[in-house]
Amino acid sequence: MKESEVLLSHLAGCQPIDLYIRRDLLPLPDLQKRYQGLLKRRSKGEPLQYIIGSSQFMGLDFKVNRDVFIPRPETEILIEAIMDNRIPESAFILDIGTGCGNIAVTLARFISHSRVLAIDISKPALKIAALNARQHKILDRVSFCQKDIFEGLGRKQEFDLIVSNPPYIRTGDLPALPPEVGYEPSLALDGGEDGLFVLTEIIRQADRYLKNGGWLALEIGAGQSAEIHKRVSQLGKFEVPKIIKDYNGIDRVMIAKKKPVTGNQKPEWKK
Ligand SMILES: C[S@@+](CC[C@H](N)C(=O)[O-])C[C@H]1O[C@@H](n2cnc3c(N)ncnc32)[C@H](O)[C@@H]1O
Repeated sequence: MKESEVLLSHLAGCQPIDLYIRRDLLPLPDLQKRYQGLLKRRSKGEPLQYIIGSSQFMGLDFKVNRDVFIPRPETEILIEAIMDNRIPESAFILDIGTGCGNIAVTLARFISHSRVLAIDISKPALKIAALNARQHKILDRVSFCQKDIFEGLGRKQEFDLIVSNPPYIRTGDLPALPPEVGYEPSLALDGGEDGLFVLTEIIRQADRYLKNGGWLALEIGAGQSAEIHKRVSQLGKFEVPKIIKDYNGIDRVMIAKKKPVTGNQKPEWKK
């Protein structure tokens, strides 16, 4: 589908195919003027999804605006990696950096009795996420909370799954990204000097919040898999991490299962 068709059908409030079969829609002078306005925004680099206010993820429609990161196809691989494993139907899930809520809402839809705690450091993002949860009718199973990673969470081992697509771009790489990315919140992109700031914090603390046999699933950036594999393995708390490639052959997802804590072994935070 061409972007011009998406923009025009968005304005006309119809499906793109209607542009070719409904003669009553065009040409309306007012519509033409507004269409020119949208084309101008697009030609300046504003992402199509922000202009039309929505984005597709795993076949579902999500409301987006400039307060949230636009869901990417790569993140669908994260969802698929999770669904390839035995996640309990009544799983309690923590989604760190929920953005527009695409991961939280999709998992709540796919895992029928799951409950999700979706957190983000950005309050405006959480507003959009809650709207999406309402639109997808799972607001009763997903709760939203403004938090900085695990800050303020009780140190109970209660989650069956911790999932995150955190900011993982190196600060120094941000200026070289395509102009479209410049419209997205820097909080969603900037992973600090080495790109690993948020990932490292999640990995360092995740096992304290996971049940025995629980899963940690992370989206990672290009060139980060060896370091992430090493850091997760060195903790000694997880079985061998699995790395999964994206559609371009880039290592994109790390998923690892927490080893059971046996007998008299106490969790580290209780020692
Ligand atoms: C790459 S976006 C991912 C959004 C969405 N989950 C997705 O997969 O499309 C990263 C998100 O992490 C949030 N974030 C950044 N730093 C954070 C922190 N310290 N604690 C919690 N959330 C954070 C950002 O506000 C942003 O919404």
